[in-house]
Amino acid sequence: MDKLFQPSSVAVVGASRNPSKIGFSILKNIIDSGYSGNLYPVNPNAEEILGLKAYPSLKSIPGDVDTAVIVVPSKYVLDVAREAGEKGVKYLVVITAGFKEVGGEGIKREKELLRVVREYDMNMVGPNCLGVIDTHTPINMTFAQRMARKGHIAFISQSGALVTAVLDWAAQAKIGFSKIVSIGNKADLTELDFIEYFTRDPDTNAVLLYVESIDNGVEFVERASKVTKKKPVIILKGGVTEAGAKAAVSHTGALAGRVAAYEAGFRKAGVIMASSLSELFDYAVALASQPPPRRNGIAVLSNAGGLCILTADILVKKGLSLATFRSDTIEKLKKILPPTAAIYNPVDVVGDSDAVRYLNTLETLLSDDSVDAVLTLLAPTALIDPLDISKGIVELKKKYPNKAILAGFVGGPSYYDAVEYLMDNKIPFYNMPARLATAVLGLVMYKEYLDRPRYKYVSVEDVDRERVKQIINIVRKEGRTVLLESEAKSIAAAYGIPVPKFYLAKSPIDAISAAEYIGYPVVMKIVSPDILHKTDVGGIKAGISSSEEVEDAYEEIIMNVTKYVPRAKIYGILVEKMADKGVETIVGVTKDLQFGHLIMFGSGGIYTELFKDVAFSLIPMAREEVQDLMGRTKIFNILRGYRGMPVSDIKRLEDILLRINQLIIDFPEIVELDINPLRVYEAGRGAIALDIKMVLSKEV
Ligand code: COA
Repeated sequence: MDKLFQPSSVAVVGASRNPSKIGFSILKNIIDSGYSGNLYPVNPNAEEILGLKAYPSLKSIPGDVDTAVIVVPSKYVLDVAREAGEKGVKYLVVITAGFKEVGGEGIKREKELLRVVREYDMNMVGPNCLGVIDTHTPINMTFAQRMARKGHIAFISQSGALVTAVLDWAAQAKIGFSKIVSIGNKADLTELDFIEYFTRDPDTNAVLLYVESIDNGVEFVERASKVTKKKPVIILKGGVTEAGAKAAVSHTGALAGRVAAYEAGFRKAGVIMASSLSELFDYAVALASQPPPRRNGIAVLSNAGGLCILTADILVKKGLSLATFRSDTIEKLKKILPPTAAIYNPVDVVGDSDAVRYLNTLETLLSDDSVDAVLTLLAPTALIDPLDISKGIVELKKKYPNKAILAGFVGGPSYYDAVEYLMDNKIPFYNMPARLATAVLGLVMYKEYLDRPRYKYVSVEDVDRERVKQIINIVRKEGRTVLLESEAKSIAAAYGIPVPKFYLAKSPIDAISAAEYIGYPVVMKIVSPDILHKTDVGGIKAGISSSEEVEDAYEEIIMNVTKYVPRAKIYGILVEKMADKGVETIVGVTKDLQFGHLIMFGSGGIYTELFKDVAFSLIPMAREEVQDLMGRTKIFNILRGYRGMPVSDIKRLEDILLRINQLIIDFPEIVELDINPLRVYEAGRGAIALDIKMVLSKEV
C-alpha cells in the first residue's frame, strides 16, 4: 500500500474552488500538509484551484496518478472510477457517501463500484469515508479540520467523523500518529488489510482500531493472529449494547455481531480490547513507546504518599503486583532518602523532594533488575519543576532503554510544558493514576501474549464418529433439528463425555424394569421433541426409589405434559440413574454468524442466569485455551478447592471440554449445545453431564 500512503502523484476528482465544499478542503489539506509529490485537481469547470492547474478529467492529466481521491456526487462515482482504471490509477479513496449505508440502490451502486475496482486491478478505501493521512510522507487526504501530529500510532476507524474528534483531542493530548485511515463502508480494503500493512510499517509501533462490525470473524481471527505478535493491535468495538448496535446498523449498514463472539475472537487473535476511546489511547501511547514489563516487575515512585497508595491499590485490583526490590536497592534508597520516605515499593520520596532527589531515586529503581517498569507519579509542589522532572526522565530513559517509564503527573495546568516534552520524547503521559494503571496493564498483557508459545491443536481420536453420524441421520430423516435427550446423551457418550446410565421407557412396566436394572434412586424425564424445558411443564421427577414410585411418576409426568402441551409428541420417559451431588457447571455451544462456534463455560445449575459467571472461547480450542477458559470463571476457584473445599477433578473437566470441542469440529452442523449441569466431582472421581440439549442447523 506504499502507493496509497506515499503516493508520487495524487488527483482530487471533484476538487472545488468553493471553500464550503469538501472537494476544496481535501485539496487544501493535501497542500497544507506539505505533500511534495504531484498534485492534480480535477474539475471540468475550473482552470485553476488553490494555485494549481486544474484538469477537466483524470485522462487529461499528463503524468501517472498513483492515488485518486474521489469527491464527486455518488451518481458520477462509477464513471470516475472507470476512468481511473483506464488511466492506470492504483488506489481510489472514495469520500462520497450514498452507497451500502443507505440501502436499496446504494447497495447496488457499491457492488458495481467494487466490480469496476476489481476489473481494473485497483484498490479502494471507502466509499463513505473521511480519507487517509500519513504524517511521515506527509499527506493529509481528508477533510478533517487539522492534520495529525507526527508519531508512531496507526489508527484505523470505521467511523469517519470519529477520526476528526480523535484528531482534535489527540492534538491537545500531544498524541502523534503515523497513519490514519477511515475505512468507511470497507467495500474493498478492510481493517484486516490495514492491520497487516501497519504491522509491517517501520513508522508504526502500535495499531489502533475502531470498528462497529467485522464481516468475516473467522478470517479476522486467522489473519490477525498472524501479525499481532509483530506489533500490538488494540481494538475498540462499537455497538456492544443493543442501543449501540442499532446505531451501528444504521451507521454503516453492517450487522454488529454479538459481544461475546467478538471478545472471544479478539482474544484468540491476540488483539487487546479497549472498553472506551480514552482506554484505547491510554493503551496505545504506552504500547507504542515502551517495552512491555513482567506482571510483577512494576515500581511506583511519587512525591505524594496519596498517589503512591492510590496507584498501588488500582494496580493490585487489576491483578498486577509490585516488584520486590533487591537488597542493595533498599540500602541505596535508605542512603539517598530522608527517614520519612517510604523505601519499599511504592516509593514515596515525600512532599519536600526536589528534582534531584526524585530523579536519583528513579535511577536507583531503574538499575534494579527486578524492576521492568517505573511509574513516575508527580504532584505539583512548589519545590519541584515538572519540566525538570520530565527532562530527567527522558535522559534516564536513554540510559535504560529496556525499561519502561510511564509518567503519571496528576493535576492539570502545571504540566502543559511537561506533557509536550514527555510526549515528544516518547514517554507516555497520564494525568490520573487509573489511566496510568490501565496503560501498564496493557503492556503487561502484551508481554504475556508475546511470551506465550503458539498453541498446538491436538485432536481427540478415541471417539465414535460413526455412531454420531447414525444418530444425526435418524434425526434428519424425521425432519427434526432438536435432538431428544436420549439422542443427545448417546452422542455425548460416543465422544467419551460421561452421562448417567439411562433407558428410554415406553410404558410404566418398561420403566420399572429399567429402574430395577439401573438401580435406585432414579430420575424420570419426559422425552419429546416439542418440550425443551422439561421442568416448566412438570416433565421431571427426581429421587424415585421404588417400583411403586416409578409407576406413579410415569403417570404423573404424562398427565402434566398432556395438560401443558396437549399436542406434544411423546417418545417415552427417560429413566436415569440419579447422580451424586457435586460442583454444578455449565457448558454451552452456539454458532455466531461472524465468528462461528462459540463455547461457554461457567457456573451451572439453576443460578446460571443469576450469577452470569461464564466465559467464552471460540472453537477450535487447544488445551491451553480450555485452561484459560476455565480460569476466567469464578467457579474455577471453587473447583480448585476454595477455602478448604475439596479439589475437583479439573483434569477430567478439561478432557470433557476438549471432547466437546472435538464433537463440534467433527459435526459443525450442531449449532446449539447445552450441558447443564455438568456436575464435577472430587479429583479422581470424574464428572457427569446430567442434562443435554442439542440442536442441529436447519440446512442439511
Ligand atoms: N469530475 C470532476 N469534477 C466533478 C465531476 C467529475 N465527474 N462532477 C462534478 N465535479 C465537480 C463539481 O463541479 C464540483 O465543483 P465546483 O464546486 O467547482 O462546481 C465538485 O466536483 C463537487 O461536486 P458537487 O456537485 O458540488 O458536489 P458536493 O461537493 O456538494 O458533494 C460529495 C459531493 C462527495 C461531498 C457528496 O456527494 C457526499 O457524498 N457527501 C458526503 C460525504 C461524506 O460524508 N463522506 C463520509 C465521511 S465520514
